[in-house]
Amino acid sequence: MRELSGKKAIVTGASKGIGFAIASTLLSAGADVLICARGQKQIDAALERLTASASGRKAIGRVADVSKSGDVAGLFRFADQELGGLDILINNAGFGTFRATAELTVEDWDRLIGTNLSGAFYCSREALQRFQNSKGGSIINISSLAGKNPFAGGAAYNASKFGLNGFSEAMMLDHRHDNVRVSYIMPGSVSTEFGAGGGARKSDWMIAPEDIAEIVLSILRMPARTLISRVEVRPSRPRKD
Ligand SMILES: NC(=O)c1ccc[n+]([C@@H]2O[C@H](COP(=O)([O-])OP(=O)(O)OC[C@H]3O[C@@H](n4cnc5c(N)ncnc54)[C@H](OP(=O)(O)O)[C@@H]3O)[C@@H](O)[C@H]2O)c1
Repeated sequence: MRELSGKKAIVTGASKGIGFAIASTLLSAGADVLICARGQKQIDAALERLTASASGRKAIGRVADVSKSGDVAGLFRFADQELGGLDILINNAGFGTFRATAELTVEDWDRLIGTNLSGAFYCSREALQRFQNSKGGSIINISSLAGKNPFAGGAAYNASKFGLNGFSEAMMLDHRHDNVRVSYIMPGSVSTEFGAGGGARKSDWMIAPEDIAEIVLSILRMPARTLISRVEVRPSRPRKD
């Protein structure tokens, strides 16, 4: 399957978890892929594994913290040099801080909103400038069911993902006539290290990161006349508490 042959993609937050699975799937489908995360060692380890599925495609990486607009500008300049174009942006980098509102610090709030929401804006802005010079492109934002279902302890995370959903829909309306397709995916529990303090959260009932990657590929496969703007995805048989 090489349906993305010749396409060039950036996946943020792809040293592990959902981003890594998306990068791997895009490579297998024939795209050249640039990944970012904050740790060089983690990027190197991910690239070593990604190269195995790259089958001749370019798998490259660069340290960038998406909450810093300067890092994001550097990431996209690197893409200009190394990929020589851009067709696909996957805004995936994100994390969770789960605390009651009164216990959230200003730093907690700024870091979370800065990564999960402002980071998606910084990257999308850079991508849209490049899409204007080409024939359009696709942006897929990895949101969460927490973007529609508030829960206690989720004030900052809920705000970031509700915000990301609204941002995605408005950006879609702004740019669909420019041949830019904006989509967002709202997963429930996915078995990654998310929110687990560094340990893997492996459970049979959870969605696998590769399943989210399959959804990304399905969105990208749609004919140009059709835009999947929002996807909700949840474990089919969640744990009963
Ligand atoms: N797992 C779930 O249950 C679930 C459910 C719904 C939605 N999501 C969303 O899916 C996305 C990916 O989550 P995941 O479960 O794959 O988490 P993960 O396993 O913790 O991976 C997160 C990735 O993002 C990178 N990252 C974090 N902060 C970053 C920043 N400021 N700049 C650049 N990269 C950054 C991490 O690398 P470094 O730490 O080295 O930077 C890592 O590569 C997030 O947006 C999350 O909100 C997850």
